[in-house]
Amino acid sequence: MRFFCLSALARAALACGLFFGAAMGAGAQDEIERRVENLLGQMTLEEKIGQLNLISHGPPLRWEDIATGRTGALLNFNNAEDVARAQALARQSRLKIPPIFGLDVLHGFRTQFPLPLGEAAAFSPRLSRLASEWAAKEASHVGVQWTFAPMADLSRDSRWGRIVEGFGEDPHLGSVLTAARVEGFRKGGLATSTKHFAGYGAPQGGRDYDTTYIPPAEMYDIYLPPFRAAVKAGSASFMAAFNALNGMPSTANPWLLTEVLRDQWGFDGFVTSDWAGIHELIGHGIAADGAEAARKAILAGVDMDMMGQLYIKHLPDEVRSGRVPEAVVTEAARRVLRTKMRLGLFDRPDVDPSRVDSVFPSPESRAAAREVTRETLVLLQNRDNVLPVAPGIRSIAVVGPLADSPRDHLGPHAARGHDEDTVTILNGIRRRAQGAGIAVTHAPACDQFCRTTEQLPAAVAAAQAADLVVAVFGEPQELSGEAASRTRTTLNGKQVEVLEALAATGKPIALVLLGGRPLELGALADRIPSILMAWYPGTEGGTAVADVLFGDANPSAKLPLTWPRTAGQMPIYYNRLPTGRPTLANNRFTLGYIDEAVTPLYPFGWGLSYTSFAYRDAAIVTPRLSSGDTLEVSVTVTNTGSRDGQEVVQLYTRDPVASRSRPLRELKAFEKIALKAGEAKEVRLRVPVEELGFHLDDGTYVVEAGDIEVFVGGNSLAGSVGKAQITDTVRIPPSERRASLSPKRL
Ligand code: BGC
Repeated sequence: MRFFCLSALARAALACGLFFGAAMGAGAQDEIERRVENLLGQMTLEEKIGQLNLISHGPPLRWEDIATGRTGALLNFNNAEDVARAQALARQSRLKIPPIFGLDVLHGFRTQFPLPLGEAAAFSPRLSRLASEWAAKEASHVGVQWTFAPMADLSRDSRWGRIVEGFGEDPHLGSVLTAARVEGFRKGGLATSTKHFAGYGAPQGGRDYDTTYIPPAEMYDIYLPPFRAAVKAGSASFMAAFNALNGMPSTANPWLLTEVLRDQWGFDGFVTSDWAGIHELIGHGIAADGAEAARKAILAGVDMDMMGQLYIKHLPDEVRSGRVPEAVVTEAARRVLRTKMRLGLFDRPDVDPSRVDSVFPSPESRAAAREVTRETLVLLQNRDNVLPVAPGIRSIAVVGPLADSPRDHLGPHAARGHDEDTVTILNGIRRRAQGAGIAVTHAPACDQFCRTTEQLPAAVAAAQAADLVVAVFGEPQELSGEAASRTRTTLNGKQVEVLEALAATGKPIALVLLGGRPLELGALADRIPSILMAWYPGTEGGTAVADVLFGDANPSAKLPLTWPRTAGQMPIYYNRLPTGRPTLANNRFTLGYIDEAVTPLYPFGWGLSYTSFAYRDAAIVTPRLSSGDTLEVSVTVTNTGSRDGQEVVQLYTRDPVASRSRPLRELKAFEKIALKAGEAKEVRLRVPVEELGFHLDDGTYVVEAGDIEVFVGGNSLAGSVGKAQITDTVRIPPSERRASLSPKRL
């Protein structure tokens, strides 16, 4: 049985549900618009508003509202039985419009991949696509159709707990990976809701939900590009952010939701609020009651009300009284219906209720998770080559409460991730060591939050008895994610005391850190020679960490954000503007702190390997550039060590003299290459001239004539290659930037 039949033409285009971003012909698009109009023509006002009502499983969902057309969208449905039940009810409704089923599928469904911040450290759009595709395949297997992902909020402040859900601090890396995630989710069968639009990652003081002040030009240059990339990649929907931006809550912000997203970028899907976000307009102090909140939200461009029930309650009266034109409601319903048709929902059979997610993890999904995870592990430091485990090591003491804590491997938002599916770091090391005849002991040293240290003496004894200590500490997953902002980003509890005691044994120590943000390491960075950042590594976390510890895989990940020395340095980011008083060690009246270095502990783009890479013959291939040209830079990278490895070659630029202060460095291109020991490769990195400029407050993009300095290397401290010259100044109004979006993808 099929919902509301489409023509053969549209069915052919949509049958597999592969919709946005696919080369959908103009004929199929027209057919969809025709069918949507036809359907809208049959709908009552209440039925249209029903399409805008998004309700979660559990209270306050009234299942009968699905059958009466009052609830057109559902969230937190995570099993086939419930999805099928709701689909059957929708078939009883007058127009049989299928609901859309959404869920937070962020980094896996049953098989958990690393959290997005960790995934970003792979600097690999291929792996981001792979991880999202798997997440989507598993979720869509049980009928989920729509994910509240990717999170395209960049952040320069890791006090903010949700930094773990994004790609870090860089707009270029963020744009590339956001697009890759949209594509991967789609390939696996999920539509995306790119969130949180916009500025949510820059709350004052790092406090989740707090207000954000970002000048429009900085929005365009820094915070908006990943969202724009999501439009280009074909994101089906967007989610409005909770925060106020420059005094106007995003959920009622016409500049964001209509002017930028629709008029400038040409997005024609729908926007949902975040959870009760419309109701929160009252809290923001811009609406006196639910009716005013609903009115402001829909007039600004929020099409769907997630868990507020304010549209369903107030919009009928708002329309009848003339405060909201009916055309506005019709347009919102049109966007929702258009999206449902593009997704193929009208043409799909209902989900088979007997489907279960326990068919996962499969050997294939585990292999994919292991492949991705290995490339997300950042080797921050490795003095004395403590890693990889040397051939002479006969015994390892694995110490720390997180070493065998599956939940803390999966991290926040783990959808249907199961503890019992998870290979912990302890188990990963055990399995690998067993084959090599290495003895492994485990001592937790303290409880999960490391509040008490009664078990410390046993851990010290275990360390003393071993050839190598692998300490697994960090941030339990409850301390990361939504509503988990921290003023101190130190190792919580008594972890420092425990790690100091382990270091005092004089045994070689490798510290594996779990966590959703850079953690303040203080003196430990000097006391502990080798540190591997493992983020929340997911279902195959233990296997992948063991691969890297034992040298079966060579670490290649790079930091997607700047790692501060202390929380007091935040916000901290590499692409900062210059100052008239750059830091001078012997001059107090220059940029800096009187109690801490101004530099980070590890810079953006940083990460070591077990081999080494040398850069030579870096050259600007295109020293003179006019508009429409592409800056091309070549460099030869050689693996100068004795192991095969991968390097992320990074290109940064700077406009040293402009009409406005420009960042000291900006990542503009990167390429991850594999090099065998001793091998050399020439890499060519390219940047269109149209990406070397900046925005004005009205969205105009300006590329100015003059020099552009170029830097190439393996992290954001990369050395200068020289200067290219741009010969003419170009100004591109927002309307022309829109044209650069591929029309077939919209
Ligand atoms: C979060 C969103 C999420 C939504 C639905 C909200 O609290 O801010 O990111 O998608 O809940 O679970």
